[in-house]
Amino acid sequence: MHLLSTQDMTLADIERIFNKALVKEKEHFRPKIRNSAKKILANLFYEPSTRTSSSFFSAATKLGHTVLQINEVKYSSVTKGETLEDTIRTISQYADAIVLRHPDIGAARTAANVSDVPIINAGDGAGEHPTQTLLDLYTIWKKCRKQGKDINGLSITLMGDLKNGRTIHSLLNILRLYNVKITLVSPDNLRLPESVYRDSTNFNEGRRIAEEPTLTEKICQDTDVLYVKRVQKERGSVAEYQLTNEQVKHFKNDMMVMHPLPRNEEIPQWFDNDRRAYYFEQIKNGLYIRMAILEDIFL
Ligand code: NCD
Repeated sequence: MHLLSTQDMTLADIERIFNKALVKEKEHFRPKIRNSAKKILANLFYEPSTRTSSSFFSAATKLGHTVLQINEVKYSSVTKGETLEDTIRTISQYADAIVLRHPDIGAARTAANVSDVPIINAGDGAGEHPTQTLLDLYTIWKKCRKQGKDINGLSITLMGDLKNGRTIHSLLNILRLYNVKITLVSPDNLRLPESVYRDSTNFNEGRRIAEEPTLTEKICQDTDVLYVKRVQKERGSVAEYQLTNEQVKHFKNDMMVMHPLPRNEEIPQWFDNDRRAYYFEQIKNGLYIRMAILEDIFL
């Protein structure tokens, strides 16, 4: 079973993974290790990564698995001109699953077509980043549970580089499963691609989506979840935006500000101590979610 896109996921998949993550969280970093189930996970990264790569490494190790870490593809046969397909065919003989990050949209699907083992998409260019979305949604879900609420009914605002931000694309795809109000805030040149818009709206005609160029007072007052994305300069995006004191003043008391990180200047550091800042919580949840994903795939 591959994990390529949030478009393939159902509510039942999400619930199963979230419940596994809750168990991992309860075990408090000391999960029960079953030696008989030891696997080898390959971490194959053609693009830089801090959180995704390290959290998969940590999650696999905590579960008692071994990690084949190929972070610097320049030290592999990729520099000798090897195709992605041949690299995947090779690594899939050595590993029981492959976590792949690659600069091309669709690379994870290409890999899945030739792999003998499950492929986990850890980011394919400006395409998708489904494991980030699972941890993002888990963070929202846990907060809702604490308050006796539900994801349905939330007002979710996605702000920043919606064009090249793959975590945005995957999040929008998964939100088709919920009845939420979505507001897209982006500079004109970084608006959501038409194809993503179409794919994510097709599923549920009752969804409400609005597009705005700036984060207005009205949006601030209405938002339960503000998900901010940095300018993806490495994919040619150019823009400047930053959360201001004035906007924060209009936020609800119990809303949440999220960010997949790394951040640049879009969320100033002075906001970090605000109880509505959830981006460090997201990092922690990423570990539990990735443990849950690995358990799901290896069982
Ligand atoms: C994101 C990514 O690589 O898409 N990082 C991450 O995995 N948390 C976000 C980004 O690079 O902006």
